[in-house]
Amino acid sequence: MADTDIKKGLAGVVADETAISKVNPETNSLLYRGYPVQELAATQPFEAVAYLLWHGELPTEEQLAGFRAEERKHRALSPVVKDAIDRLPLDTHPMDEVRTAVSVIGAIETAGTGNVLDAVGTPEENLQRSLQLFAVLPAIVSYGQRRRRGEALVESRDDLDYAANFLWLTFGEEADPVVVDAFNRSMILYAEHSFNASTFTARVITSTLSDLYSAVVGAIGALKGPLHGGANEAVMHIFDEIGSADNVVEWLDAALAEKRKIMGFGHRVYKRGDSRVPTMKAALDTLVAHYDRPEVAELYTKLEDEFVSRKGIYPNLDYPSGPAYNLIGYDTLTFTPLFIAARITGWTAHILEQQASNALIRPLSAYNGADERHIEGYVPDT
Ligand code: ACO
Repeated sequence: MADTDIKKGLAGVVADETAISKVNPETNSLLYRGYPVQELAATQPFEAVAYLLWHGELPTEEQLAGFRAEERKHRALSPVVKDAIDRLPLDTHPMDEVRTAVSVIGAIETAGTGNVLDAVGTPEENLQRSLQLFAVLPAIVSYGQRRRRGEALVESRDDLDYAANFLWLTFGEEADPVVVDAFNRSMILYAEHSFNASTFTARVITSTLSDLYSAVVGAIGALKGPLHGGANEAVMHIFDEIGSADNVVEWLDAALAEKRKIMGFGHRVYKRGDSRVPTMKAALDTLVAHYDRPEVAELYTKLEDEFVSRKGIYPNLDYPSGPAYNLIGYDTLTFTPLFIAARITGWTAHILEQQASNALIRPLSAYNGADERHIEGYVPDT
């Protein structure tokens, strides 16, 4: 197979068409259903972007009100799911906790489906399942953090929109509008990014005609890795290791000498900077000012300047979002679950799209193992 053109990591491979988002690394732009993500982040509540990703258009005021009313109906953690979470050891990684909770929800919601031939469900059922996961994930993620801190579950507030309610569920107090706005922007920026590893995983699982929950559980597994979503957690570990801007040069010298990857930098598609970073960096700056924590911005800028000047590799979205979530008060281990709560919209939009125009995803491989050989003494059946 020496002359086979192998695309390791599927780099550069166009696997299918999608109408959900467009990434253009040449112009450094990211469009959701045609809208630049920066414009959506600056003007829309996350619920409207979820609606856009699923339906292809931004909602009218009336549609948004109806969508929000439906979302509010499904925010509560059911006793079964809460019990399943409570049975996990307290040092379970939160990504595993959320993955398990989604799996439990899926088992309950698809119970009685009959047989695997019916597993996939109708488009209407899957849209409703998508909305229900979107609505309940803030409670799952928030309760996880609270339980690790020895705090009790907080119930949702029907008078609060998605982002404000999410922060309420986590911290049990109403967040400042500046914080709600920064958090809402982060959710929108994390919502969708074409055929990234976790979304592609969801599409692969969907392509076998498996169910939506199985696809989401698989996507969560893919997102956990530090080369993908886990990087926002990993960025914060690095910030903690470095401590302050004064230590950046010495730390980076040692890290590069050890050939360590610097988390939060680099991207498979963007080579000259991630289109989402300026918007998230602006949100981080507002949080730095709000919490009066200039040293966070100093460390951020110093590490970015040093690393970019030495390696020419630019920050990705996880770089500003890690410290932003830290300032808001999230535990480092909760950062990637926040990414799940946002990306559930993109994943499920892709699951619906894959279901609407399905082809089993099954690439080829180039065999490079032992030449054909035989078991001594084996006599073939005649
Ligand atoms: N730190 C140090 N070196 C890096 C980094 C980094 N963050 N990123 C890339 N490089 C180097 C590699 O070591 C490699 O060098 P070499 O050619 O001398 O071996 C070269 O740049 C190419 O890197 P690859 O990893 O082969 O490129 P790829 O396109 O596969 O990588 C990836 C993309 C995986 C994101 C990579 O940049 C990385 O590991 N970054 C750190 C993890 C991270 O931040 N992930 C988040 C992705 S964005 C998101 O999920 C929101």
